[in-house]
Amino acid sequence: MLGAVYGFVNAEETAIRTLPPHERVDVFVPLTPTPSPTTLPAPTVEVASTPSGSVIPVSWDGQINLIFQQKCIGCHNSASRMGGLDMSTYASLMEGGQSGAVIVPGDSANSLLVGKQQTGGHPGQLSPGELSVVLNWINTGAAEK
Ligand code: HEC
Repeated sequence: MLGAVYGFVNAEETAIRTLPPHERVDVFVPLTPTPSPTTLPAPTVEVASTPSGSVIPVSWDGQINLIFQQKCIGCHNSASRMGGLDMSTYASLMEGGQSGAVIVPGDSANSLLVGKQQTGGHPGQLSPGELSVVLNWINTGAAEK
């Protein structure tokens, strides 16, 4: 009996022969393409290069209007205009308030808005981080876009 099993195991080669070691076996490959094309990854935000190449420019559209919306628009909107100042749009902000222009592009030291915020005690106060973003924005030209 043992001899028969031994003989069978050594003689039986069908399993090896039916699947030769080097025959290529394709994995399942669907013939139809997937219905929707693969969406391309979103392009990275392009930051315009500055002469120095080191300062990341901020803009009214990019960031500044959001900061002002959160902290200032409650009082400085087209209806209330406290201090004569409407900060709801770039154009109205640049028009200034009862004291005249509040933003001097390229010159934060002479911008009334900065002065008000640096003095402190204004009913709407920017955080030091927000103020530095605004300072950077004014000093790089206070661009709208
Ligand atoms: C709770 C209401 C309120 C909020 C919020 C507020 N302000 Fe004012 N703001 C006033 C009032 C009232 C005046 C007028 C009196 C004065 O000049 O302090 C004024 C005046 C100003 C002026 C002077 C305008 C001028 O021409 O004289 C500036 C600049 C200003 N605010 C900036 C800001 C900024 C920036 C923020 C947001 C960080 C802000 N304000 C948030 C009430 C507010």
